[in-house]
Amino acid sequence: MSGVSSALNIEDLRKMAGRRLPSFLFDYVEYGHADGASVARNKAAFDKYQMLSRVLVKVVPPDTRRTVFGREYDLPFGISAVGGLGIFRPGADRFLAEVAREANIPFMLSGVSTESIETVARIAPDHVWFQLYPAREFALTERLIGQARNAGCEVLVVSVDYPIQNKSEVPQRSGVTPIGGIDWAKLPSIAGDLATHPRWLLEFLRSGGMPKMESWMPYAPAGSSPKDIAKYFASVWPPNLVWEDVERIRALWKGKLVLKGLMEPGDVSRAYEVGADAVSLSNHGGNKLNIVPATVDCLAPARDVAPEGSTLFLDGGIRRGSDVVKAAALGADFCFLGRAFLYGVAAGGRDGARRVVEIVRDDLSYTLAMLGIPDMYSVDPALLVTQA
Ligand SMILES: Cc1cc2nc3c(=O)[nH]c(=O)nc-3n(C[C@H](O)[C@H](O)[C@H](O)COP(=O)(O)O)c2cc1C
Repeated sequence: MSGVSSALNIEDLRKMAGRRLPSFLFDYVEYGHADGASVARNKAAFDKYQMLSRVLVKVVPPDTRRTVFGREYDLPFGISAVGGLGIFRPGADRFLAEVAREANIPFMLSGVSTESIETVARIAPDHVWFQLYPAREFALTERLIGQARNAGCEVLVVSVDYPIQNKSEVPQRSGVTPIGGIDWAKLPSIAGDLATHPRWLLEFLRSGGMPKMESWMPYAPAGSSPKDIAKYFASVWPPNLVWEDVERIRALWKGKLVLKGLMEPGDVSRAYEVGADAVSLSNHGGNKLNIVPATVDCLAPARDVAPEGSTLFLDGGIRRGSDVVKAAALGADFCFLGRAFLYGVAAGGRDGARRVVEIVRDDLSYTLAMLGIPDMYSVDPALLVTQA
């Protein structure tokens, strides 16, 4: 076995990604906000939940399917929105769409993706959801929604968790962000990093250098460079959204609507009141603040206030199939993985993303069988044991 096929778990892929990527990119992913406490907490929090196993149950093979919004997916997890993927691996958005289609799982295309929504939705029309970052001007938000509709997306995921631009210390130091590009004035400080990651550098240069946010090209001035498009984006985003904005979006979007980035129970119940079809509990993978609780710890309180039968998603810190089972026991209908797929695609492109699906799927099946759980609908909260 060689390359990504030798990875046994997501941690193996993380290490491979760390070897290929310059530190200014890898650390950007690893730290999230400030010292990375929330990134670490999201992951570590899963350890305090354990599951009792039942025996003498017919479980082979376990049924991992799960239906969301009337569509049956083969697995109870999907690919979360990650912006600026092209700098990590040219073609990454396309690879993820291909893998989502093959594996029959959803792929949330980031509102600041590298490849355009049109290109990506064409690859996997039944699997691509569009994650919207609304603009300050509602007229522009309306056009973005129209773009998603015309591309054939059935699910709109509105990320509502950044009232202001997030801050990360890593790019302030390096001068590089996946969507903002490279501040060449800081080149001397990253030159050594570039020189010691020649595989990444060669592919970056061969693919034309800094990638563009293609979905934003129709709005930025004609002939804009990647940096100009990023500048334009920074001039229209973020808006300080309020509930009335969500109501306007709800009135406009006839498809399924997900609100992403909620944690607080009052917000969760209000989201359903204003007509969201699902809530995605998320702290943006620890990218927004280092003082927020792990999202898995927000699940039970959110489920308590969510209306009977409502759809609840979780992301944050999920690295194993067993994490997905724990999340289901705590009340999540479906999970999304951000970094796991980022590591996979950065380490090995399309094959790396496929390997993520295999790893998480196999661990999920193994866990279900060993716990004596025949299918995803039979994950019994009574099996959950929580350590204080
Ligand atoms: C590098 C990076 C970029 C991200 N970009 C976006 C984005 O464009 N839109 C969005 O809604 N969430 C974005 N997220 C958050 C993810 O969608 C998801 O909430 C988070 O990664 C889940 O945590 P995990 O990485 O531990 O799986 C990003 C996360 C990372 C790590």
